[in-house]
Amino acid sequence: MEEEKAKQEVQIGNSKVNVVHPSIFNVVKQRQRIKEKLSGIKHKIGVYSAKGGVGKTTVAVNIAFTLKDMGYKVGLLDADIDCPNLHLFLNIKDAGEPEYPLKPLEKEGVKVISTAMFVDEAKRPIIWRGPMVAKMLSEFLEMTEWGNLDYLVIDCSPGTSDSNLSIMQLLELDGYVIVTTPQHIAATNAIRSGMMAKRLGAPIIGVVENMSDGEGRGAKEVAEALMCDYLGTVKSDGKFNAMSDSGRVPVSEDSEIKEEFIRITKKLVSGGD
Ligand SMILES: Nc1ncnc2c1ncn2[C@@H]1O[C@H](COP(=O)(O)OP(=O)(O)O)[C@@H](O)[C@H]1O
Ligand SMILES: [Mg+2]
Repeated sequence: MEEEKAKQEVQIGNSKVNVVHPSIFNVVKQRQRIKEKLSGIKHKIGVYSAKGGVGKTTVAVNIAFTLKDMGYKVGLLDADIDCPNLHLFLNIKDAGEPEYPLKPLEKEGVKVISTAMFVDEAKRPIIWRGPMVAKMLSEFLEMTEWGNLDYLVIDCSPGTSDSNLSIMQLLELDGYVIVTTPQHIAATNAIRSGMMAKRLGAPIIGVVENMSDGEGRGAKEVAEALMCDYLGTVKSDGKFNAMSDSGRVPVSEDSEIKEEFIRITKKLVSGGD
């Protein structure tokens, strides 16, 4: 009996993995390969909410550029595989035929990569079932050559399945910045996101209230439910739409927005308050 059990197990790092469940085996192997590939990255931070349209991409981009302005080496990864937007926010066009390993493009000192950069017709919808999304994301993580970075900021997709599950399983993140708006519905979905991360062992660094009226109701609701830090608020401002539509980064151009993001990013760097 013991002998039979031993035959089913393989030593991976410090743990024994049962190869009778090959999916678990693959995840462990993949996780190790990705860990080696990303070994030059000091900190990995996800920007996440289960709700779409709350400003995940906006917050990820502006935190990344604020970190770069603080003197850190920064990368930005678009993990929204089926509806990537990051390249649009940064006005990055088709990067041409992919060469392996994949090399991120550099935008004003920040390394950026998105699957959308390698898809010819970016407007064509990617209609994939969950396993395809997960496979694409894991291959993308394995194939990208980031080099040495202080921070990799990951712009997550909405929802609590597929690509977010893969990120939580495959990456050892420092933690998540959860994004909400003042709206109770957004806060409820932000709490769901944080609960999922916690269940899968990923820490929550803190919560940002975007499109805020300054009172921070949504962020307080989330911070209380997830027992995490309140990193700050970003006011609702029409400049965000105008700038992102033309591929400009708000913190690089607007001093008020820059101040908001410096406050948030300083707390993030120090691990919250
Ligand atoms: N603070 C803000 N004030 C006004 N508009 C904003 C703000 N933050 C984001 N937006 C706009 O809201 C829309 C959704 O933001 P986005 O970052 O794409 O959200 P998500 O990534 O969560 O789907 C975008 O058009 C963006 O320009
Ligand atoms: Mg987005």
